[in-house]
Parts: sequence; C-alpha cells; structure tokens
Amino acid sequence: MDHYCVLGNPVEHSKSPLIQARFAELTGQSMHYGKQLVPLDGFADTLAQLIRSGVRGCNVTVPFKFEAFQAASTQSERAQLAQAANTLKFDGSTIHADNTDGVGLVQDIQVNAGVSLAGRDVLLIGAGGAAAGVLGPLLAAGPRRLVLVNRTKDKAVALVARHRVHPSLQELLQKTELSAQDLQGPEGDFDVIINATASSLAGGGVPVEPRVLKAGALAYDMMYGPPAQGFLRWAQEHGAVARDGLGMLVEQAAEAFALWRGVRPPSAQVLQEMRARLA
Ligand code: ATR
Repeated sequence: MDHYCVLGNPVEHSKSPLIQARFAELTGQSMHYGKQLVPLDGFADTLAQLIRSGVRGCNVTVPFKFEAFQAASTQSERAQLAQAANTLKFDGSTIHADNTDGVGLVQDIQVNAGVSLAGRDVLLIGAGGAAAGVLGPLLAAGPRRLVLVNRTKDKAVALVARHRVHPSLQELLQKTELSAQDLQGPEGDFDVIINATASSLAGGGVPVEPRVLKAGALAYDMMYGPPAQGFLRWAQEHGAVARDGLGMLVEQAAEAFALWRGVRPPSAQVLQEMRARLA
C-alpha cells in the first residue's frame, strides 16, 4: 500500500484525509493518506524523514507552502507562478512540486458552479499566498479583464508584475486586461468576485464595495465554514450568487490525487458527499 499525508501547522482540522480516502475507495486505489503536524521550524526534517520512510507524496498546507516549493528539485509552471506548492510527489530522492489550488478553484467555478470565466470580468481580492496560488490558472481560463485588488496595493502590483513577465503567460495576456489596484480602485463591475483575503479571520469585514457586483454575479470565498459566512451573506444581500471554497478544496485534492495515481477521481460526487456531511 502506498502512503501519502498532509503536512501543516495546524493540521488537525484538515479534511484532506477524508477526501483522499474516499477518492481511493471510489477508484479502487490501494493507498493510505494521513495527517502530520509539523513543528514550525521542522519542515525540512519532516520531509527528509517522510522520503526515507518511503512515503510517495504529500499535500502541504499553511504555513509551509513556500518552503515546500523551495525544497523541490523540479517545479511545475503553476507552482513557479505561485512561488508556492500544495502538492509534492516523491520519486526516489527527487521531490517534484506542484500547486493544484488554482486549477481546483477554476474547476469548481467552471464545472461545479457552471460559470464560464472566458471573456468575463473577474475581480480577485487579496495578494497573499492564497491569491498567488490562483492568479495564473485564472488567467489561463481567458477572462476579458482580471483585476487584482489588495489592502496593501504594492503587494498586488508585485504579484501582477511577476505574472506579466512570465514567458508561459505572454500569449494569454494578449486576451486579458490584467491590472493591480487598491481596494477602492476597480472601476465598473464584475461577473465573478473571488475573496482570497484573510479579512474574516482577522475580524475584518468585506473589503470591497457592493458596487463591484454585477447583477447575478458569482461571489466566491476561497474559505468554507464559519469564516466564509460574512462574505457569502454580504453577497446574497446584494443579489449575487454566493459560493464557498469547499468545492475548491475537493478539486485541488482531486488534481493532487490524479498527479500521484494517474487516475481522475469522481470529485463532483465527493463534493456532494462532503456538503451533506458538513450540513
Ligand atoms: P494567505 O496565505 O491566506 O493569503 P496572507 O499571505 O497572510 O495569507 O495574506 C492575507 C491576505 O488577506 C492579504 O491580501 C491581506 O492584505 P494585506 O496584504 O494588505 O495584508 C488580506 N487581509 C488580511 N486582513 C485584511 C483586512 N482586514 N482587510 C482587507 N484585507 C485583509
């Protein structure tokens, strides 16, 4: 049996073991997936120990996604764009880093929620690790306009600048008007608004004005459970369709599973089961 796990601090709350176990069951894969609490200064040691013990790969969550990226010998393009990794695959002593958060988000929006991003106006709020992980895949979906806004505008400007010069995005950037602004900055309104800030965790409110929502817009919070509720309620009160990040969680897990096992799990079914479980 092959072994995998999720590394984080904290990690107790992680739903990844549940999701991966269900994927394995539904696809008949013989694997075990656990969770491991890593001391804040112990990521490199833990990784070396996992590799020695024959573990095949892991997911990485807060606060180790940047270290995970740095530790790898090969890095996917999307991990390079994010400068962070949520998925590692071990091949002997070689570590391959990937970042499946962005494709997970795009898959949940386009397939599970049925909202196409091509040609649409998209507002991404936040410029921390969560936003960095999804900007490249959002661009790849071909929006007409993608505006990144952040409380600290300089961070949004730097993130956009990094993407602007990346060779893999040059063709895509001809289709999309990409810009970085402060929270009050964006002109006009948007079809899809994505909250990638930690505002709710910091006790803050919704960081943008309701005028950014087009009638019937999709307002997406990358969190799920209680931290997402303030943003989702605000969105509904202003006529938007509200969606939490549970689907993103399941879809990023599905992409990691496919990378490790070469088999695509039935993610929509597992998302439905997770919703029923959390209801
Ligand atoms: P994560 O990895 O979850 O993205 P992070 O890197 O600490 O965490 O980034 C947190 C994001 O939430 C940032 O975009 C942060 O804005 P700043 O860059 O200005 O710090 C944003 N954020 C946190 N609290 C906020 C608040 N009360 N209002 C608006 N944005 C907030």
